[in-house]
Amino acid sequence: MDSADFVSWFRDSTPYISAHRGKTFVVMLGADAVASANLVNMAHDLALLHVLGARLVIAHGAEGLDAGAAPAAGDGEFDAVAATVGVARNRLEALFSTGIPTSPLRGSRITLAGGNFVTAKPVGVIDGVERGRRGEPRRIHADELRRLLMTGAIALLPPIGHSPSGQAYALAPETLAAEVALALRADKLVVYDAAERVGTASELTLAELERALEQGRFPAPTQARLEAILHAGRGGVPRCHLISHAADGALLQELFTAEGVGTQIAEGDYRAMRSATAGDVAAIVELIRPLEDAGLLVRRPRDRLEAEVERFFLAEIDGIVIGCCALYPHGDAVELACLATHPSHRFRVGGKSLGERILFHAEEQAARAGFTRMFALTTRAADWFADHGFSPAAVEALPASRQALYNFQRNSKAMLKELADAPRRDGEPPRQAAEEVLE
Ligand SMILES: CC(C)(COP(=O)(O)OP(=O)(O)OC[C@H]1O[C@@H](n2cnc3c(N)ncnc32)[C@H](O)[C@@H]1OP(=O)(O)O)[C@@H](O)C(=O)NCCC(=O)NCCS
Repeated sequence: MDSADFVSWFRDSTPYISAHRGKTFVVMLGADAVASANLVNMAHDLALLHVLGARLVIAHGAEGLDAGAAPAAGDGEFDAVAATVGVARNRLEALFSTGIPTSPLRGSRITLAGGNFVTAKPVGVIDGVERGRRGEPRRIHADELRRLLMTGAIALLPPIGHSPSGQAYALAPETLAAEVALALRADKLVVYDAAERVGTASELTLAELERALEQGRFPAPTQARLEAILHAGRGGVPRCHLISHAADGALLQELFTAEGVGTQIAEGDYRAMRSATAGDVAAIVELIRPLEDAGLLVRRPRDRLEAEVERFFLAEIDGIVIGCCALYPHGDAVELACLATHPSHRFRVGGKSLGERILFHAEEQAARAGFTRMFALTTRAADWFADHGFSPAAVEALPASRQALYNFQRNSKAMLKELADAPRRDGEPPRQAAEEVLE
């Protein structure tokens, strides 16, 4: 990587650093991940995430416990599993200990701490088979776990829980991770798997994941992990990720780049829309400058943006601005201007592109405010607007106030659309509401 690449890579990743600081992440390392030659790199990535301020809980597996493996039925089998859990735990503790000569974090002291945070119960009889010492979480002691995280330690949870009577049970690590994420109301659940992605998808909604699971075409461990993700997502964990344990740096790429390398799974469209405020000008400038330089958007000096920022709507993920547009009122018509999406977010979530999400939001706001027509002036996106219900219009069809500002040199195409009625507030004439929303 040359210095320019490094600088741009570092700049691009910094918004994610502040987005993840103070957030709680539950990470599942199954038996395959723990046995992987890449474990040392995974440990470094997790340590880096921790040093950058994320609160981490690692739920780990051990040989004999992954889905599809023989259940820990009797006492003998359980003892064998408990021994492999000890081996896995030692391996992880060693990797997180200081003094790894090749570690980029060799100077920082990281505490891994465990404890009796999970009360377990036996799973009992499934499909006519008594599962003996195979258990499932009955209660996660979330307050105690949170207190541990507040001390700055990483919590390391083995796949073993105890019943109130003191009996130990072997737990499926993916179930443990999902239940812990739910109990902690974690911000993310990250699951390592042999697969790089769910199929080829970088993003999935929970409904899409459910449909994929119904087809049952995944290997048993992946199927079980995705079922756990679905369970966590349905229960309210806002963002889950499946990433590869074989790819060096998969966690960093998934969490610190817009493109990611795994699959992010969320309830629906997690790209939030909101009105812009004065503090957003720098982010808007960063988003639109390259598009202005390419001649796709008309140049807006910073002082103009500062004066007009309240006309902007933003799309964001984790507080990072990924798209915008502005609405300018002209009588009963409204101009949609400066519609821009970040090139790294030009993919569909829940069937909708980011540009569509912003457009639908803008249309809803404008219709709600009482505008009956929306228009846009564009040099290169006329087809995009045509695909979304706009028709080409003569400049003379634009409101007189906008015709007066039309730049004939730029020669933009005017695209016009009638807005469907939106519910209006009782007793308010449309224009008054429009002023309120847009002025
Ligand atoms: C126009 C724009 C907002 C569309 O955003 P988006 O819908 O998130 O874009 P995506 O790249 O995800 O593309 C979605 C679809 O629109 C098509 N599309 C994107 N830009 C297009 C354009 N300029 N003209 C025609 N079609 C376009 C894509 O080919 C894709 O089609 P597909 O689903 O059939 O593959 C975005 O391309 C952009 O920021 N452009 C630069 C700024 C601009 O021109 N703004 C409009 C003037 S105000």
